[in-house]
Amino acid sequence: MTVLLNGKEIAATIKEELKAQLNAQQRDATLAVILVGNDPASSIYVNNKHRACEYVGIRSLVITLPDSISQAGLLEHIETLNRRDDVDGILVQLPLPPSIDTQAVIQAISPAKDVDGFHPQNVGALSMNHAGLLPCTPAGIIELLKRSHIEIAGKECVVLGRSNIVGKPVAQLLLHENATVTICHSQTKNLPQICQRADILIVAIGKPRAIDSRYVKPGAVVVDVGIHRDSNGHICGDVDFNAVQAIAGAITPVPGGVGPMTIAMLMQNCLIAAERHASLAS
Ligand code: GUN
Repeated sequence: MTVLLNGKEIAATIKEELKAQLNAQQRDATLAVILVGNDPASSIYVNNKHRACEYVGIRSLVITLPDSISQAGLLEHIETLNRRDDVDGILVQLPLPPSIDTQAVIQAISPAKDVDGFHPQNVGALSMNHAGLLPCTPAGIIELLKRSHIEIAGKECVVLGRSNIVGKPVAQLLLHENATVTICHSQTKNLPQICQRADILIVAIGKPRAIDSRYVKPGAVVVDVGIHRDSNGHICGDVDFNAVQAIAGAITPVPGGVGPMTIAMLMQNCLIAAERHASLAS
């Protein structure tokens, strides 16, 4: 029987734990989210984050800015939030309009408030396995595997995709868990053969149903990071779920796999940032 890695259920448990932790600590935590423009997908993501904050007990400020805002204008908003003592975490929803330099925006966020884990200081901390703030999707994948009792140490892990947000950081986290890690990308030769080596296959390529059973070793654990709406309006991942679930040992569904874990890890980062902020003040 193929095991379904139920991210929705595990994320609900984590949010429950964080809610209890926040109550026990009698501490306030505040997340400020900046949404630029009115991209429908981004609006849904920001709304999901806001609802998760409400559930856990984190105060959530959503700052909506027009897509005509200048780079300097956006940086000014970030500077204000960096200085505000009542704000623990800052997140700028991506993608940003093409007129804005995304890297400059990421670097403007105080690393201590960077709950996305995208600032170069946090990226460096991850690379050296020091305590920073971890990017949410990669951290969510590791948490999903651990809470599903899937052993990582010593396993062959293949990561499809080399983005700064998922591919590269998840590869580093798997390495810190003592896996043997291969990163593949659009120029990789013999992709099916390399994927066939994987005990754990992480797919983050942004192409609907691109990975079928030819890429999967029987019994492998398959983690699908993609989320798309196909031409029939159905939500699907980067993995052809029906084809792959027949041979995988365990697989994440889409939706209900990695997505909810990303939000749970964002909530966790908010609590970590708030805790560190409070300990600096005391
Ligand atoms: N857009 C898509 N995923 C993300 C994410 O993890 N963080 C932010 N800030 N924007 C995103």
